[in-house]
Amino acid sequence: MSDFSYENVLVEIKDQVAWVTLNRPEKRNAMSPALCYDMVDVLTRLAGDDDVRVLVLTGAGEAFSAGMDLKLFFRALDDNPAEKARAREADRAWNWQKLSTFPKPTIAMVNGYCFGGAFTPLVACDIAIAAEDAIFGLSEVNWGILPGGLVSKVVTMTMNYRQSLYYAMTGKPFDGKKAAEIGLVTFAVPKDRLRDEVAALAEDLKKIAPEVLRGTKETIRAIGDMPVDMAFEFAYAKSDQLRFRDREKTRDRGMGEFLDTKSYRPGLGPVKRS
Ligand code: COA
Repeated sequence: MSDFSYENVLVEIKDQVAWVTLNRPEKRNAMSPALCYDMVDVLTRLAGDDDVRVLVLTGAGEAFSAGMDLKLFFRALDDNPAEKARAREADRAWNWQKLSTFPKPTIAMVNGYCFGGAFTPLVACDIAIAAEDAIFGLSEVNWGILPGGLVSKVVTMTMNYRQSLYYAMTGKPFDGKKAAEIGLVTFAVPKDRLRDEVAALAEDLKKIAPEVLRGTKETIRAIGDMPVDMAFEFAYAKSDQLRFRDREKTRDRGMGEFLDTKSYRPGLGPVKRS
């Protein structure tokens, strides 16, 4: 079990699931430079932690995250370009580079407010489950900025053209049910079931061999922007890489149990892990 603590983030590892909680509830978990520095370290450690099979990202209190910290990330750094550059680098490193390439499944558990800059880690996670009454918003336009950093990009990766423009240009908030309807999150559940649903999903993911999941998420993420022929070659190369990486030999066992012993049906669920 890993043992480390942070000022702005709580990390709890239980039954091979890392529950990572942005922990500035009194500031609605707004992302300060210090929180970004903490998260870079958290993700670096958890990526290499053999005790961790699934990562859940959530927020303490009423918010998932109210976005970038207007005071500490913007105003306080306006006249400090060197520190601003460092903070921006950490922001991008954790909420996109490290999170979107995290080698294990990631679930965003959206428990409450999710605004502006918080859309980036939300979309960086592989799966997003929201409370039906969570409040989302591209609020930037309300106070004179535009969805910067990677926010415009991740919005158009998930929401369609019309929805992206509508919510970015009006700044109107919307709830978890709407977020699911427009594709921003995977699904929404009543708030009192949120943690149980996420825990159950994490258990399902743990039944699948880690290298199979890793190869699958890396492939789905990478091929989106590729031409068709390149995507074809890439998927074949990743499949070969997976056979090499998967020490559990899941493919061989699955085929054997389906074709030879006829003891298993791949269409109905994962083959038992060795
Ligand atoms: N940056 C900095 N501080 C923030 C913040 C943010 N993005 N969001 C909330 N806070 C701070 C508030 O300034 C306040 O601090 P204080 O107690 O020192 O006065 C504290 O968090 C609580 O916020 P408050 O507005 O009183 O809470 P609320 O529950 O009434 O409203 C929100 C919650 C999320 C609706 C509201 O705080 C808000 O609109 N935040 C900004 C959201 C936003 O536009 N984010 C985009 C940034 S890219």
